[in-house]
Amino acid sequence: MPITYLDNAASSWPKPPEVKLAMAEVIEDYAANPGRGGHTLAMRAGKVLFQTRAQLSRLFGITNPNDLFFYMNATQALNQAIKGFLQPGDHVVTSFIEHNSVRRPLEYLRRTKGVQISYVQPREDQLFYTADFVKEIRPSTKLIVVSHASNVTGVILPIEEIGSEAGKRNISFLVDASQTAGVVPIDVEKMGIDMLAFPGHKGLYGPQGTGGLYVRNTIDLEPLIHGGTGSQSESVDQPVARPDRYESGTVNTVGLAGLLAGVTFVLEKGTEQIFQHEWKLAKRTMDGLKEISGVEIYGPDIDVERVGVVSFNIKGVDATEVSFILDQEYGIATRSGYHCSPLGHQAVGTEKRGAIRASFGMFNTEEDAQKLIQAIEEISAAYAAGEA
Ligand SMILES: Cc1ncc(COP(=O)(O)O)c(C=O)c1O
Repeated sequence: MPITYLDNAASSWPKPPEVKLAMAEVIEDYAANPGRGGHTLAMRAGKVLFQTRAQLSRLFGITNPNDLFFYMNATQALNQAIKGFLQPGDHVVTSFIEHNSVRRPLEYLRRTKGVQISYVQPREDQLFYTADFVKEIRPSTKLIVVSHASNVTGVILPIEEIGSEAGKRNISFLVDASQTAGVVPIDVEKMGIDMLAFPGHKGLYGPQGTGGLYVRNTIDLEPLIHGGTGSQSESVDQPVARPDRYESGTVNTVGLAGLLAGVTFVLEKGTEQIFQHEWKLAKRTMDGLKEISGVEIYGPDIDVERVGVVSFNIKGVDATEVSFILDQEYGIATRSGYHCSPLGHQAVGTEKRGAIRASFGMFNTEEDAQKLIQAIEEISAAYAAGEA
C-alpha cells in the first residue's frame, strides 16, 4: 500500500533527493572531524558547516553566521536558550500553546530557581493578541518566549508585533520556530527576535539530529555543555568566541550536510510559495472535513491562514483508534494524542482526549488531502453505523 505521509509537523518526509546525496557524499568522501584538524578532509568538513551556517543565516536574516549554533533538535536549542538565559527571580511571559520543550524547561526553572512564569491564553477565536502579552509584563520580566505557530492548532502568532513591544522595553525575545522555519518567512532583525530556536528535520527538510539556535551577539548565554571545541584547548575555561562557546563536542557533519541541501531547497522554492502550498492543503482538508457529520476541527476559524496543521476528532471516537485505522487500512500516516502540548489541548478543550493531527509538507498534493477526507468520511460512517 503506498504511504500518504501527513505527519510533517513531527518530521518532514520525504526529503528532497539532494539531502540523501549530500549525506552519502560525506560518508563516502570526507567524514573527518571538522575544526579538529588542519588536514584536507577536516577542512572540507569544516567548510560544510560554514556553508550551512551561511545558508541558514540567509534564510533568517542573520548578519553574522557565527551567532548561529548547531544542536540535535529544537528541544536542545530551546533548553540552551532558556536555561542559559534566565536567572533566579526572573519573570517570563509565554503562551498557552507552548510545546513541552519550552514549558518543561520553564517549569523546571520555576521549581529550582524561583523563575516566575505568566501564560497568555488565546482568546475565544483561538487567536493570540499582542496586547495580552504586554499586559503580563512586569518590572522583573526578562524574557518573552513564544512559538511562532502552534503544532496543535496551526495558529500563527503575531511575532513581529510582540518582538517590537519586547524591544521597546528591553526585554529579550525568544521564538520557537519549530513549525515555521522554512515555511513562514522569518527575519530576526525585522521581527525583533533575539533568540531563534529551530529544528532541521521539519520544514527545513534536513535529517533528524539537526537543529539550531540563533543568539543575538549582545546576549551572553551560560553554555549548558562544556568540553572540547578544537579551539583554545590550553585553557580550562570554555572559549568565549562563537560558535565554539556553544558547540562542544563533535557536531553532526553528516546531518548538517543534509540540512544544507534542505535549506538550499527551501531557499530555491521560497518560503512564501511553501507556505501557500501548505496552507492551501490545510484549507482544502478543513473544507472537506467540516462537511462530515460529527467531525470537530480545532483552532481558529478555517478561513484564517495557519501553518499546514489540521487537528480534529470524530465525535465519540478515540483519536488513537482513528489514527491507527488510517495507518493500517488506508496507509495514511497521521499523529494522534497530545502532541507534547497539554496546554494547547486545554485551549481547544481536548485535554482529556487529544486529537488526530494531519500535517502537510511541500511534497503533499491535493490528492493526499482528498484521500484523508474520504477515509475520515468512511471511518465516521462505519462508527455511526456501529460497524467499526
Ligand atoms: C512547537 C514545537 N516546539 C518544539 C518542538 C520540538 O522539536 P524537536 O523534536 O526538534 O526537538 C516541536 C516538535 O514537534 C514543536 O512542534
